[in-house]
Amino acid sequence: MKIPDPHIIVIFGASGDLTKRMLIPAIHQLFIHHLLPDDFAILGTSRTPLTDEAFRQRIIEFLPADEENNSKFLNKIYYQTIDYELQDDYQELKSRLESLIQSLNIPANYLFYLSTPPNLYDVIPEKLALAGLNNQADGYKRLIIEKPFGINLASAKSLNISLLKDYEENQIYRIDHYLGKETVQNLMVTRFANGIFEPVWNRNFIERVEISSAESLGVEGRGGYYDHSGAMRDMVQNHLLQVVGMVAMEPPVVIEADAIRHEVMKVFQSLRPIKPEEMQKYVIRGQYTASTIKGEAIAGYRDEPDVNPASHTETYVAMKFFIDNWRWAGVPFFIRTGKKLPTRVTEIVIEFKPTPHHLFDQTGLDQYKPNQLIIRIQPDEGILLKFNMKEPGAGFRVNQVNMDFHYSSLADIHLPAAYERLILDSLYGDATLFSRGDTVEAAWKFIQPILDAWEKDSSIPIYGYPAGTWGPYESDGLMDGENTWRYPCKNLSDDGLYCEL
Ligand code: BG6
Repeated sequence: MKIPDPHIIVIFGASGDLTKRMLIPAIHQLFIHHLLPDDFAILGTSRTPLTDEAFRQRIIEFLPADEENNSKFLNKIYYQTIDYELQDDYQELKSRLESLIQSLNIPANYLFYLSTPPNLYDVIPEKLALAGLNNQADGYKRLIIEKPFGINLASAKSLNISLLKDYEENQIYRIDHYLGKETVQNLMVTRFANGIFEPVWNRNFIERVEISSAESLGVEGRGGYYDHSGAMRDMVQNHLLQVVGMVAMEPPVVIEADAIRHEVMKVFQSLRPIKPEEMQKYVIRGQYTASTIKGEAIAGYRDEPDVNPASHTETYVAMKFFIDNWRWAGVPFFIRTGKKLPTRVTEIVIEFKPTPHHLFDQTGLDQYKPNQLIIRIQPDEGILLKFNMKEPGAGFRVNQVNMDFHYSSLADIHLPAAYERLILDSLYGDATLFSRGDTVEAAWKFIQPILDAWEKDSSIPIYGYPAGTWGPYESDGLMDGENTWRYPCKNLSDDGLYCEL
């Protein structure tokens, strides 16, 4: 296994929640699995005045109990207080980094992780650059930023302009944690390392594609952020469109960051824009209302803390769209995401066209259902193929059966969490699983007219749906004829039988 070069990870916003809950545990896992070099350090920075030791004490409670390893890990952690707006503090940060690399004998390879509110995304990189901390002459200087990359097309563009003023695109790592999920990456392997899928992966054989990301949780104390965001910005513009990119792209010429991101970009460029007058035909928005689940009263979205009691923010989106290119002409794509749905599941359903002739109809016992390939991203990562078989016994009764693979059966392999994988990739300098600036803008370009229509046209309804249900039933209306969404349940193969609330 290749190990990244010695380096220092500088975390901005180190006293925040994300650092404690996600970043440090992810780096710790990399450390435990011997995926980091012996010579590395973490320098936490934030406004809160703390000593190295006090910062270590804050972190330790988020690490699994393992005294020996934890004390080795904590020895690699340092802290520096910073006022993000003060240029002098960046000079001090630079001096601190210089003294660390000297004492630890590490080259000046720095990964700057911005775990801060997005309004600092153009402040911190600019001030780092003014202090010369974008200069790669003595070692790499990379930036990691988290979504949101802008709140609309205009702000996404200006963020890119501001970052690219001082950094090359290949120094910028925009995290979309969905791309770090094992099964999202496995999509490429499923498609391009098997002879059986790719020949049928097109308009000639595929009837429709459905991508659902359901969450049973609500806004969980993030009402202040979410009420200005909504499901379209929070999930569709980034995570779900990136998944669409992976499902729909052409085979890249090589497995390299730019080759793959070019193909994703081509998909985004082919998304058919939704016209203002078509909004209601193609996009459904919803908001959860109060309900009772298993005897427990559940608050509606408008009653959540920090949410406007008259809010029109969507907690659910379902949409239909087309990719106007050679491979996908005429194939509808459906996306659905929502909070307070019955279960937590993210999956891709590839539904194949029916056989041209229903031979067994003549028996009157026809149970034909379309073949579906279901790629389960979470939980219980795996792949399920649904196909028709003859029921044993007299006559020809056709029934659908499942062939399923669960990642959990690869028991002895450590499945890295999304953040582990992405941090490791950024240390290798591999940007494959990060969003490129132009693809972020292309995704916004597709979404922006929908957001504009919602803002301008108050006649576009926002449907209520009781918490714990599958969202407004109007979203079934996006599909033709008898079709409905797949209503997956917790168990990969027993769909339709029960749902975990
Ligand atoms: C985040 C969103 O990006 O993704 C959250 O801001 C959402 O609102 C989360 O809950 C979903 O991620 P996951 O990995 O739990 O599907």
